[in-house]
Amino acid sequence: MERTLSIIKPDGVSRGLTGEVIKRLEDNDLKIVAMKMIHMTRAQAEGFYAVHRERPFFESLTDFMSSGPVVVMVLVGEDAIKRYRDLMGATNYKDAVPGTIRADFATDIEKNVVHGSDAPETAAFEIGYFFNRFEIVG
Ligand code: CMP
Repeated sequence: MERTLSIIKPDGVSRGLTGEVIKRLEDNDLKIVAMKMIHMTRAQAEGFYAVHRERPFFESLTDFMSSGPVVVMVLVGEDAIKRYRDLMGATNYKDAVPGTIRADFATDIEKNVVHGSDAPETAAFEIGYFFNRFEIVG
């Protein structure tokens, strides 16, 4: 069993896609073991995306991620990191396979509805960024 972090980004929450995303997770055996809605400060978004600090899109990305509420979740399942990334689709929605969350709902490379960890080490950092061990039920 593997854990991964999922975020429904401000565009997904404000467009009323929270239920749709959760339905797709549950239909695909990705079990939610922690969940909360938060509104990040700019500094909190910068800390989360620190690996992207030098990228040209960092300022815009952290602005966007702190622009409204997000839903953060810990998912558990076999091969959860890869299976959730497959469900999300490519970062750039134009490259995403039809039927994936981003192909179906993203409007922009930045406003791409969801985030998911890309490796076990990243998942451990990202889960620990938002949740302590008492908030994770599985
Ligand atoms: P995410 O999976 O959350 O990881 C980094 C985010 O940066 C990405 O999704 C996009 O929302 C955003 N982003 C904006 N521009 C780019 C870009 N050119 N390449 C990759 N990610 C980008």
